[in-house]
Amino acid sequence: MIRKRAILITGANGEVGHGLIGHLAGHDTDILALDLNSLDDNLQPLVRDAVVGDILDQELLSRVMSEYEIDMIYHLAALLSTRAEFTPEAAHRVNVQGTINLLQLAIEQSRWLGRPVKFIFPSSIAVYGMPSLVVKHGAPPVHEDLYNMPTTMYGCNKLYCEHIGRYYALNYRQLAATPEPHGVDFRAVRFPGLISAVTIPSGGTSDFGPEMLHAAAQGQPYASFVRENTRIPFMVMPDAVKALMMLGDAPREQLTRRVYNVTSFTLSAGEIAAIARQAFPQAEITFNPDDKRQGIVDTWPALLDDENARRDWDWCPDYDVDRAFDDYLIPAIRERYGR
Ligand code: SER
Repeated sequence: MIRKRAILITGANGEVGHGLIGHLAGHDTDILALDLNSLDDNLQPLVRDAVVGDILDQELLSRVMSEYEIDMIYHLAALLSTRAEFTPEAAHRVNVQGTINLLQLAIEQSRWLGRPVKFIFPSSIAVYGMPSLVVKHGAPPVHEDLYNMPTTMYGCNKLYCEHIGRYYALNYRQLAATPEPHGVDFRAVRFPGLISAVTIPSGGTSDFGPEMLHAAAQGQPYASFVRENTRIPFMVMPDAVKALMMLGDAPREQLTRRVYNVTSFTLSAGEIAAIARQAFPQAEITFNPDDKRQGIVDTWPALLDDENARRDWDWCPDYDVDRAFDDYLIPAIRERYGR
């Protein structure tokens, strides 16, 4: 049987999956989409095959392994930071064991192909843990190697998977008599909070930004679960997809590290509310902080340093704050809700 060539996207039906599939589909790429839920109807025509299943299901992964020749994996499936706090052990299984299962699939595919499979991994601002608000607000843009002290299960999972990815890339079975010839070409970006005009996140703790905007556009009241003066960096989905693609395309020899920050603009929750109110005057946004979720966001940096990505693979976001809202979010959200 001839194995079908494809790139594999896990978590394909999630927010980043939607953005990525929409973008890749224009590039003549055969996509194998894998998700727990069936792929949205509008994405179905854009992929070669869509498999419904669990990344913890070894039998399913073996079937994928034998039917497809996969030279690139975007491993997007994860339980986000708020959801993970309700079921930390389940989150660990999905976020860590799920990632190891995919890395193992990548190693096996690398052996077949005779070259390393590219493994693109979205990591997160949640890997940081600022020790206090005073430090958070006084710190210069945070470099990848500082404050790696996450307080959430999700943040711990992402930070650990970055290390495990490096291990599969460089040291996998390093004492075996026949060492792994190729390894996995593991590359990770640490995203700030993401905002899409076409999907709404679920289960994250940066969700107050996108939730506020989508609620405002629909004329629904929204009570923010963080204080007005809460600041974290955000990025719009087209830039998040651009970062994944650029990192995936970068020549290996230009990469001086495996894990890169990317960022575009920082806003407070109050500033997002002001933009939403101006665009959608019927918006009813109030602030009713939830101390526990607030506590998580307070440990995330206000500013990220993405100099390494800029230097190594020419990273530069297309959307600063004005373009993000004026040219992308507000017009597309207006259209989406007919406002
Ligand atoms: N957006 C994610 C979350 O809130 C952070 O990576 O969990």
